[in-house]
Order: sequence, then structure tokens, then C-alpha cells
Amino acid sequence: MPSVQDARPHALSLHSLRGKITLGYTAVAAIILVASLFFVGELRTLEARVVLGQRATDLFNTTLEIRRFERNYFLHHQAADRAENSRYIALAQKMLRENRSDFAAMAGQQRLQQLRERLDAYARQMAALAQADPRQLDAMEPQVRPLGQAVVAIAEDMAGTERRQIQSTLASFRTLLLGVILSMTLLIVVIGRALSQRVVKPLKEMESSVAALSANYRETLSAPSNDREILSITAAFNHMLQELDRRQKSLMRSERMVSLGTMLSGVAHELNNPLSNISTSCQILLEEVGDSDTAAQQRYLQQIDQQTERARSIVRSLLDFSRERAFRKEAVVLRPLVAQTVGFVRCEISAKSVVQLDIPDDLSVAADAQRLQQVFVNLIRNAMEGLGPQGRIEVSAQRVQASEPPAGTALGQGCGFKGAMVEIRVADNGPGIAPDILPRIFDPFFTTKDVGHGMGLGLFVVYEIVDEHGGCIAVQSTPGQGATFIIRLPLAAADTPKGAR
Ligand SMILES: Nc1ncnc2c1ncn2[C@@H]1O[C@H](COP(=O)(O)OP(=O)(O)O)[C@@H](O)[C@H]1O
Ligand SMILES: [Mg+2]
Repeated sequence: MPSVQDARPHALSLHSLRGKITLGYTAVAAIILVASLFFVGELRTLEARVVLGQRATDLFNTTLEIRRFERNYFLHHQAADRAENSRYIALAQKMLRENRSDFAAMAGQQRLQQLRERLDAYARQMAALAQADPRQLDAMEPQVRPLGQAVVAIAEDMAGTERRQIQSTLASFRTLLLGVILSMTLLIVVIGRALSQRVVKPLKEMESSVAALSANYRETLSAPSNDREILSITAAFNHMLQELDRRQKSLMRSERMVSLGTMLSGVAHELNNPLSNISTSCQILLEEVGDSDTAAQQRYLQQIDQQTERARSIVRSLLDFSRERAFRKEAVVLRPLVAQTVGFVRCEISAKSVVQLDIPDDLSVAADAQRLQQVFVNLIRNAMEGLGPQGRIEVSAQRVQASEPPAGTALGQGCGFKGAMVEIRVADNGPGIAPDILPRIFDPFFTTKDVGHGMGLGLFVVYEIVDEHGGCIAVQSTPGQGATFIIRLPLAAADTPKGAR
């Protein structure tokens, strides 16, 4: 089988399903990556804020310790409390020194300066207390306390501000997260839709056109998109259809050869009659040579001429049947065609069986005579094959006004046709067809006969031909009481009668 498309791996392009899917996938991955990077950045900011908040809280706690030991000192006048107080003051001063820029960013340069000045002033006051007389301590307390309170207030304010900052950062982070999730979802939905438009839609279209094709495989499939994969599937499919068509033609050919085989003995038989008539006439003529009865001689010669023509016509129709040629519809007078066909296949019928024709002389159909003859050969042969000794085959035809398809399994383009048609019935009183196989008898290769006795193509070919004519075929059967095949064909245009040969 010739390669339909180049099988080398192609560079990713937007003219391929793979390209489109990869693009969509990459876009989604990029969106997720960007969003993740963004959130990592935001988390780091938040982390830094929490560290700052911790520092502000530490500073605030230290100032509270300073005040605690200050109060203890004024209450109990213990040197140890004052020592702890100054240790915490030194700690707070160290914190302020080491994290100057952080605190400045947090509370502003001015407020930080203010805190540092107050703390320094407070430290000086507390240092002065060391030299003071313990009895004066109570008197000095009101000078120290406001400074201490101011330091705690500023530190508390700073810690509070930072806490609020963290809260608002968290709040905006939440809003952002929600927004990003929403827009990501939206983007993914949009990309998904675009992908499904570009990827799933052509596939779906392809599916439905393939389904439509399976009903009529003579057409070719047209690619629903320009994607490489779709194009190559379409090309492969069309190639397959061509191949199928080619093989089917060859099957039909061999089917016809089988029919020809059946007909040959009939033809020989048919030829025998005119030939023996000719021979008899010749003998009489020979015996009477020299007689003066010219009228009688003329009669015998005429008979010879007629019988020769009859023999010729038989040979011609056999040749016609065997020759392959294009479908050609013409007005075919039905009765002579059926009569001749019956004559050809009759040899196979047992002597006691009867074939009866009930066809008006003037009934014609628009058909290809050769193919129509094939239909009758196949149907009559099938009927004969099942007949018992009292077999009976009846071929009848009449004009009908079609309004719905014939009852039974009906197949073919013309089954929905409403109006005047020719209805042909081929009925037998053979064994009939079991209901479970009835729907399958028109399938190619379906046969109930032994190997070597049937290819299972006869009815398939019949269906093909009827369908080709725009007709309809149906079968009705009661097992044990025979089968009836009903064919409806378009009427011939009345002004082009041309008898079957
Ligand atoms: N007139 C009939 N009576 C009973 N069975 C029939 C008749 N015509 C067809 N069949 C059934 O349909 C099958 C398919 O017929 P056909 O397509 O002509 O293939 P084949 O004759 O090679 O088996 C036959 O095997 C037979 O079972
Ligand atoms: Mg058959």
C-alpha cells in the first residue's frame, strides 16, 4: 500500500493537532508557573513583614520589662531591680541601633528619633537615680515615670502599626489569591474551549462524516480541518475507500462469472431449439430440392432465417451479460427480459417445478438491462436452490403507487420514494428464511450454504444493483412457506421504449 503521508516527525506547527494540544498545554503550564512565581514573591514579602512585626513586638516587650523593674525599684529600692532595669534599657537601645532602618521604615524617621531621644533621656534619669539618696527616690519618681510611659507608648504604637500592616497585607494577599485563582480558571476555560474548538470539533465532524459515509461508501471523505493528522487520516481513509471500491468491483465480476456459469447450460439448451429447427428445415429443403413448390421452400427458408436470428439473439445477450460495461439506464421492457433469463437458468430447476410469469407485456422500467438480468438470475437461482419437487417460482410485476416502503426488511435509496413505481415480486414456495438471519441475507459473504456452494454475494449484488437504480428491495418470509423478494424500480419515461434484447 503506497504511503499516504510522509511519516517523518514534523516540527511542531499549528497545522497539527499535536501542535495545538502542545500549545494549549504550554499556555496552561506558563500561567501556572507565572502565578506560582508571583505568589512565592508575595509570600516572601509577607514573611519579611512578619519578621519586622516580631521585632516591633520584641521591642515593645523589652520596654514593658524596663517599666516593670522601674516600678519594682521605686517600691522596694532594691539595687538588683535597677540593674535589671538598666540591662533592659541597654537591650532596647541595642535593638534600636541594630534595626534602625527597619524601625525607620516601620514608624518613620521622626518617630524613631523621638523614641531614641526619650529612651536616652530615660536612661540618663535612671542612671542619676543610682547616685541619689534613697529617701529622695519617691520625690524623683514623677520625673522618671512620664518618660518611661512615653517610651512604652511609642513602642506599643510601633508594634500595633506593624500588626495592622501585617493584617492588611494578609487581607490584600487573600484578595489577590482569589483574583488570580479566578482569572486562572477563566484562562484555562478559555484555552480549553479554544482547544476543543480546534481539536475536538474537526474530530467530531470527521466522526459524523465517516458515519454518513458508511451508509454510502462511494463518496470520498473531505477533511474537516487542515491539521496534519486529520489530513493524513482522511487521505488514508479515501485510499481505503478506493481500494474497497476496486475490490468490490472485482467481487462483482467474479459473481457475474458464477452466474454466467449457471446460465451457460441454459443457453446451450435454448440454442438447441433454434438449431434443431434450422436443421429440420434444411433437411426438408434438401429432400425437396428440384421440386417446383417455391412457396413451401420460401417458408422453410424464412423459418431458417428466423431461427438463426433467435440463436443470434441468445448468443448476443449472453455476450452482453458477460461483458463489463458502465452503468447505463434505458427503458427496458420487463417481460421479454425476465422470460429470457428464466429460460437461461431453467435448466437447474427440477423437471417438476414450475416458473410462472405474471408480467404485463407493456411494462417497462428505467434500468440497465444487463444488471437487471443479473438481479433476476441471482433471485431465481436462490429460489431454485431451495425448491423441493413441487417447487413453484412466481415472478410478477405491476405498476404501484408507492406511499411507504414494502413491508419486511427494506433496503435501498428508493425506499422512501412516494409515487408511481414498478413493483416486481419474485416469490417461491421453498423453505423460507429464518427470522434471525433475515436481516443479514443482504450482507456481503453471508451464506447458509456449504463451502463451495455459495459465496454469499448473490443478494448483496442484487441489493447493490437495486440501490444503484434508485430502487428499493425488501424481503418477506415465513419459514416453511417460502420467501418473497419485492423490488421497486423507477418507471421508464414513456417515450423511450426500447425492448430488452
Ligand atoms: N429464496 C430463498 N429462500 C430461502 N433462503 C434464501 C433465499 N434467497 C436467499 N436465501 C438465503 O440467503 C442467503 C444469502 O443468499 P446469497 O446472497 O444469494 O448467497 P448464497 O446463495 O451464495 O448463499 C442464502 O445462503 C440463503 O440462506
Ligand atoms: Mg445465491
